[in-house]
Amino acid sequence: MDRIRISGGRPLVGSIPVSGAKNAALPLMAASLLTDGTLTLANLPHLVDITTMANLLAQHGVAIHMNGDGPGGNLGRVLSLCAADVGSTTAPYDIVRKMRASVLVLGPLVARFGRARVSLPGGCAIGTRPVDLHLKGLAQLGATIELDGGYIDARAERRLRGARIVFPFVSVGATENLMMAAALAEGETVLENAAREPEVADLARCLVAMGAEIEGIGTNRLTVRGGERLTGADFAVVPDRIEAGTYAVATAVTGGEVELVGVRMDLIEAVADVLRQAGIAVDETAAGVRVKAPAGRARGVDVMTEPYPGFPTDMQAQVMVLMATAEGAAMITETIFENRFMHVPELNRMGANINVHGGSAIVRGVDHLSGAQVMATDLRASVSLVLAGLSARGETLINRVYHLDRGYERLEEKLAACGAAIERIEG
Ligand code: UD1
Repeated sequence: MDRIRISGGRPLVGSIPVSGAKNAALPLMAASLLTDGTLTLANLPHLVDITTMANLLAQHGVAIHMNGDGPGGNLGRVLSLCAADVGSTTAPYDIVRKMRASVLVLGPLVARFGRARVSLPGGCAIGTRPVDLHLKGLAQLGATIELDGGYIDARAERRLRGARIVFPFVSVGATENLMMAAALAEGETVLENAAREPEVADLARCLVAMGAEIEGIGTNRLTVRGGERLTGADFAVVPDRIEAGTYAVATAVTGGEVELVGVRMDLIEAVADVLRQAGIAVDETAAGVRVKAPAGRARGVDVMTEPYPGFPTDMQAQVMVLMATAEGAAMITETIFENRFMHVPELNRMGANINVHGGSAIVRGVDHLSGAQVMATDLRASVSLVLAGLSARGETLINRVYHLDRGYERLEEKLAACGAAIERIEG
């Protein structure tokens, strides 16, 4: 298994290109199942999760063509997907277990073909993460749902029918699955308390480009007027706000100055706000956002994760690294997922002083972290260890880094180009 070695203490200076968002790309790829036309997606990141979704769609019968990289060098990959000839509506366990986002094929398949068998994703490292809201919503649209042999079996004898669906709490995946299903349903669907994440809005805009009628994009009330047929479209994936936020923190913890090229300030407002309170300069530029660390230590700031536009749970582990060496204490509260503090014991092994009480972590800032051998557990926890290694004195060796390849494109290359001493040890 690959490992990553980092010699810490070098400020990051330069510019980092921000890739297309993984969490927007995955539902957009699943949306290709809604039409027999060709959906061409640009600015896709080169990531293992994207390959996993491509494999899942290919085994359903979707024809996928790689059109190479987009113009301009940093515009990511272009992929054409055509689901004119879908042969299987089953999403097998072997693929779904690798990536929870596989469950996003459920809504499109049952809406277009009246049948879907999708393996239940089950638990994962950051909590139980059920899919009950996806299933209840599909049932309200007229599908019959049964669970059998570890699979979700969804059927619809006739076309799905629009309904008013009120989510008891905000779910990104459930909003996406139901919005896609509603786009082919008869009549109007209203999704109340819908997720407002930019990736959800990106999917909505793509569905509109495919011929769907959707009102309220970017708000918590989405009205979808379904059509009998959607068409192909050309669409470019929104920049990855989590990747951008991660490199913003990397810049802050190394005392550096970096321009994040391609991201927009409105996508990272909540993270920028916390960084500014901690004393880090975050400013919009013509090409993106510039981040500059203060001369001394950052200040501790309390942070609570919330659905968008609040502070993202996918940035919680990274911001904890910043607070670990900040002046004073910070309370970091996780409200989206239980059990998302697996990075804490590893950070403490590097000299951090962090105590977890239920859903909150008290971080008492220390003068510096020290390099150590650590182990990565999930995607964002893994990248937090990279950030800790970049800021620490001495050498850090991170084991089990395959999680990073699911969500960060060319991580070592992007960091090394700004002066980090980071390398992958293969094998
Ligand atoms: C998506 C993101 C993930 C991010 C999360 C929250 C993708 C591929 N993944 O995950 O990176 O951390 O949003 O911003 O876009 N829940 C239920 N029942 C359901 C669905 C969700 O109880 O049917 C719960 C979950 O366990 C969790 C909360 O709702 O506690 C939010 O989950 P959700 O927003 O659905 O996360 P994902 O879509 O899985």
